[in-house]
Amino acid sequence: MNTRTSRILCVIGTRPEAIKMAPVILALRNEDWADVRVLATAQHRDMLDQVLSIFGIDPDIDLDIMRHNQALTTLTARLLLDLDDVLHAERPEAVLTQGDTTTVMSAALACFHHRIPVGHVEAGLRTGDMLNPFPEEMNRVLTGRLARWHFAPTYSARDNLLREGILDETIHVTGNTVIDALLNVVDRHPTVGLPLDPSKRLILVTAHRRENFGGPFRAICRAIRILADHNEDIQILYPVHPNPNIHTAAYEMLDGHPRIVLCKPLDYLPFVGAMQQSYFILSDSGGVQEEAPALGKPVLVLRRETERPEAVREGVVKLVGPNRDRIVSEAQRLLDDPAAYREMARGVSPYGDGHAAARIVAVLRDALVG
Ligand code: UD1
Ligand code: UDP
Repeated sequence: MNTRTSRILCVIGTRPEAIKMAPVILALRNEDWADVRVLATAQHRDMLDQVLSIFGIDPDIDLDIMRHNQALTTLTARLLLDLDDVLHAERPEAVLTQGDTTTVMSAALACFHHRIPVGHVEAGLRTGDMLNPFPEEMNRVLTGRLARWHFAPTYSARDNLLREGILDETIHVTGNTVIDALLNVVDRHPTVGLPLDPSKRLILVTAHRRENFGGPFRAICRAIRILADHNEDIQILYPVHPNPNIHTAAYEMLDGHPRIVLCKPLDYLPFVGAMQQSYFILSDSGGVQEEAPALGKPVLVLRRETERPEAVREGVVKLVGPNRDRIVSEAQRLLDDPAAYREMARGVSPYGDGHAAARIVAVLRDALVG
C-alpha cells in the first residue's frame, strides 16, 4: 500500500471557480494520499462565500483580495504578491486552478516562478479573439502555456490546445466539473424561494461580461424591457451581478417594471431552481451555457462569440450578441413558436456526465504518487 501523501493546493477566486472546483476538492478529500488545502483569493467576496457554504468548504487560507470596482492591473499585482507569500509558506507539490479569471492566470504565473506544477481545470476553451471575452481569452492562453496538466472538458477544447503546441500527453479530456456540481445540486431539489407568478412563463437573465459594459449592456437592457412591455404572459427574473458597471445600469434601466424582478445574485441552489423553472434563459455567462442544456433549457447568448461551441452545434444554445433587435426577435420566436422552442429545449449535455472530478483525481494520483 502506498503511504505517501501529496500536498495539493486548490485555488479559487470567484463564484464560478468555486462551483466548478468544489467537486474536485470534495473528491480529493476522499483520497488518503492527498493532503488537500484550499486557498480562496476572494477576488469575489459574497458570491464566493455563498458557494463555499453550499458545498461545505471552509478555505484554509483566505487572501480577501476583493475591493470595490477593482481594476485589472491592481488586482493582478496584489494577487501575485499575496500568492508568492502563500506558495513560500505552503510549499504544495501541485496547485489546481479552474477557468479563466485573473485569479487563475496570476496563480499559474506565481507557481511558474516557484516551479510548482499547475493543473488547469477547464483547459482549452478558446474563441480565438483576445478581446472577446476580455480579459478571459488572454488568461486562458497564458494559463495554457504555464500549466503542467490540462483538464479539457471536451475534445474540441483538446484540439485547441494541440493547435497551440501543447503536448498531447499532458491533455486529459475529463468533461466539465460544472455538471458534477449541477447534478449534486439537482439531487437536493432546489427551489427559487422568490414570490414568482406560476401562471407566467419565466425568462431568467444573467449578464456580467466586461466587453459588454456601456453601450452593449444598455442594448441588452432595452431588449429586456421591450420583451416585458410586449408580453403580458411572461415575467423576467434578473439576479444582477454586483459589478458596479452592470449593477448601476441594470437598476437605472429596468427597476420598477411590473414584469421584471431584479434581485441580488442568487445562491447556487435557488439559481439552479430558477434555471429549472425557467422557460428559457438570456445570458452571457459561461457556466450557464453549460448547465442550461443539461437541464433542457434554451439559452440565447448575449455575446458575439463563444468558447463553448458544442451546444451551439447541437442547436440548443444560440448566439444573439448584445444586439437589441436580435435578442427581441429570437426571444419572441421562442415565446410564439412551439416547434422552434421544442427544437432548442432538448436535454443534451455536451459538457459532461457528472464524473469529471473523478477523472481529474485519477490523473493526479498517477502523476503524484504513482
Ligand atoms: C469576474 C471575472 C470573470 C468571471 C466573473 C464571474 C476577472 C477579470 N473577471 O468578473 O472572468 O466570469 O468574475 O462572475 O477575473 N463584486 C462584489 N461582490 C462580489 C463580487 C464582485 O461586490 O461578490 C463587485 C466588486 O465591486 C468588484 C467588482 O464586482 O470589484 C468586480 O469584480 P471582478 O472579480 O474584478 O470582476 P467580475 O466582473 O466579477
Ligand atoms: N449563478 C448563481 N447565481 C446567480 C447567477 C449565476 O449561482 O445569480 C451560477 C451559475 O449557475 C453558474 C455560475 O454561477 O454555475 C456562473 O457564474 P458567472 O456567470 O458569474 O461566471 P462565468 O460562468 O461567466 O464565468
